[in-house]
Amino acid sequence: MRALAIEQRGAAPAVIEMKVPGPGPGEVRIAVEAASVNGFDLAVAGGYVWDAMPHTFPVILGRDFAGTVEDIGPDVTGPRVGDPVAGVITALELGAGPIAEGLIVPAAAVAPVPAGVSTVQAAAVGLAGITALDAVDALDVGTGDVVLISGATGGVGAFAVQLAARRGARVLATARAGAAADLVRRLGATAAVDHTADLAGAVRAVAPEGVTKVLHAAGDPGVLAALLRAGGQLVSVVGATADQTDRDDVTITGVMATYTPEKLRGLLEQVAAGALTVPVAATHSLADAAAALADFGGHKLGKIVVTVP
Ligand SMILES: NC(=O)c1ccc[n+]([C@@H]2O[C@H](COP(=O)([O-])OP(=O)(O)OC[C@H]3O[C@@H](n4cnc5c(N)ncnc54)[C@H](OP(=O)(O)O)[C@@H]3O)[C@@H](O)[C@H]2O)c1
Repeated sequence: MRALAIEQRGAAPAVIEMKVPGPGPGEVRIAVEAASVNGFDLAVAGGYVWDAMPHTFPVILGRDFAGTVEDIGPDVTGPRVGDPVAGVITALELGAGPIAEGLIVPAAAVAPVPAGVSTVQAAAVGLAGITALDAVDALDVGTGDVVLISGATGGVGAFAVQLAARRGARVLATARAGAAADLVRRLGATAAVDHTADLAGAVRAVAPEGVTKVLHAAGDPGVLAALLRAGGQLVSVVGATADQTDRDDVTITGVMATYTPEKLRGLLEQVAAGALTVPVAATHSLADAAAALADFGGHKLGKIVVTVP
């Protein structure tokens, strides 16, 4: 099979030929049709993880995927060959990854892709959707909240805007003027606030008393925390801590996405029902997967997806 992989320390990711493994007990082999790019892939591609995470070369890139079950190992009671499924890799050891023609995963770790949801959409929801869900849950967003989502035009942020708006909150979403601002308003934001201009002024203009909650997926946590009302809460998906802010009257916590197939299934059912939009900025074929990594590093609206074959 072909895979976007790194063969040794210091090497750039390249599309290489590898042996197709077979599924072991409790495992299924997926014929991958789509996989999305996440910030983690750029960290792997940049070689920043080798001292921090166990790995076996070649390391195939990617964390989330959608495709079709093409083989099942012993002791698998579901899914079946031919089923459309999606999932997120949670293994701490790097090696197998989904930006490839084939992928072995535990059968219990995949979610069904409902009718009407494309594999591109399903792969794009993956890690970003779970992260958004976990962060919005951690913030306990509800009616009466004024939530500032920083990083709203990215994968995590674009899902978070929708999830927070649907819970009845007023959502202020960071976005450059123009197409980005239009996107976040379409996704349910009450207001777009430009992070490349006077962000604090833009937030104060629509929320003079400040915001009750902040979802931090990008930007300076100190600037964002300053916009919280006393007693407010900031949840960071990028590791911000209280000592990066001047506030001792607000709560700053971090969230690491915790994937379960049930959570992904719930999100995909929302996509199928038309309740969750999946913004995809660009798709690239596996042969051109390096361009997908480059796209991710630039300005984009939503997700970047690699399609296979
Ligand atoms: N904790 C976890 O479990 C977890 C899981 C997944 C992702 N993450 C992390 O979460 C972050 C977001 O992920 P993602 O996939 O959504 O990334 P992404 O798609 O690259 O989105 C980041 C967005 O932030 C915007 N941005 C950049 N600088 C900004 C600023 N100063 N203020 C406000 N917005 C700004 C960018 O918009 P412009 O193009 O306009 O600059 C971009 O759209 C990444 O750092 C990723 O590593 C964490």
